[in-house]
Amino acid sequence: MKRNIKVLAVLTSVLVTAGVLAGCSTKKTGTTSNNATETGDIKIGAVLPLTGSIASFGISSKEALTVLEEEINNKGGILNGRKIKFIYEDDANKQDQSTNAITKLIDSEKVVAIIGSVSSGSCLAMGPIATQKKIPMITGTATNADVTTKGGNYVFRACYLDPFQGKTAAKFASTDLKAKKAAVLYDMGSDYSKGLADAFVSSFQGAGGTVTNNLTYNTGDKDFKAQLTKIKENNVDVLFLPEYYDAVPLIAKQAKELGITATMIGGDGWDSPDLIKNGGAAVEGGYFVNHYSPDDTAQQVQDFLKAYKAKWNGKTPDALAALAYDAGKLLVDAISKAGTTDGAKVRDAVQNLNDTVVSGNITFDKDRNPVKGAVIIKIENGKQVLKTKVAAN
Ligand code: PHE
Repeated sequence: MKRNIKVLAVLTSVLVTAGVLAGCSTKKTGTTSNNATETGDIKIGAVLPLTGSIASFGISSKEALTVLEEEINNKGGILNGRKIKFIYEDDANKQDQSTNAITKLIDSEKVVAIIGSVSSGSCLAMGPIATQKKIPMITGTATNADVTTKGGNYVFRACYLDPFQGKTAAKFASTDLKAKKAAVLYDMGSDYSKGLADAFVSSFQGAGGTVTNNLTYNTGDKDFKAQLTKIKENNVDVLFLPEYYDAVPLIAKQAKELGITATMIGGDGWDSPDLIKNGGAAVEGGYFVNHYSPDDTAQQVQDFLKAYKAKWNGKTPDALAALAYDAGKLLVDAISKAGTTDGAKVRDAVQNLNDTVVSGNITFDKDRNPVKGAVIIKIENGKQVLKTKVAAN
């Protein structure tokens, strides 16, 4: 009995102390709390490259978010009938514009969460700002490994990571294409391009292959003949091009002109209608790793395809669209589960999600990354064709 009283006394003092501490911690210093009024539209910011070198990515993403916004609001919104409102800022895939955009959305527009941006470079610049301001951020598409770890504990992503993507490409090259020799050509100014190149090189060598050339260029370069001439000498089986759709057609055409016959392989950055439009015969027969395929018969893929096509004149959604939709959906689900737009509580709700979205099932590990599989797409007769599905590992 005496012992029980003592336990009770200790417990009471612990609880009182906890209460005092909790009281103190509500006085936030130097952070932004964008949930002052828990009524009205729920504003979520989206930072996207709507202009510039990868504008096709930003436009697809925005189209998908429009579909999501309508779906949620037509069903009556969330948190007792509040509507969702996505507010867009263009970053043109330039890091300084990405940081300006996220700062403006949080400080001036008072958004409660952030979707975006698309590229790894932009997200590496934005992440620390989201964490410092305690506003949860989910990028649908940034695959560079550092995006979440360097961004801090408010930064999540809805896609696989480049170490997995590079390994998938290398394994496909060595196992399926039986490649023994590979060359790599990448943009040294792009976090995405460099990270993916590194992953491919170590995995291809790990599988017993030889990387004869691992060469670079600068962002915006238009002439790759010097590097390609060196590559030509080695008569490689595959040429790995971890680059976005804007530069790949230029490289592919110059490679063909020089007589390079290697199979070209890329990553998710190839996923734009512009790749085939501008690359034509030069990209025919190439392969790239991607996140999703519209050929997938899974229910959530087919539902999304139907809704997006109905809204956008029959246009087929690409991976950018699917992943932007997923990033938005995850945030909306987390806000619903948290029952509030409070940044810290929504962050915790995101961390604990277990959702099936368009690109698969998502749970987050301690570094705020999902574990996901991939698909390999072949460019055949001027079309993207699903070749294989690769399981997560
Ligand atoms: N993974 C790319 C990056 O990190 C972005 C991207 C994703 C591009 C999906 C196309 C499709 O920069």
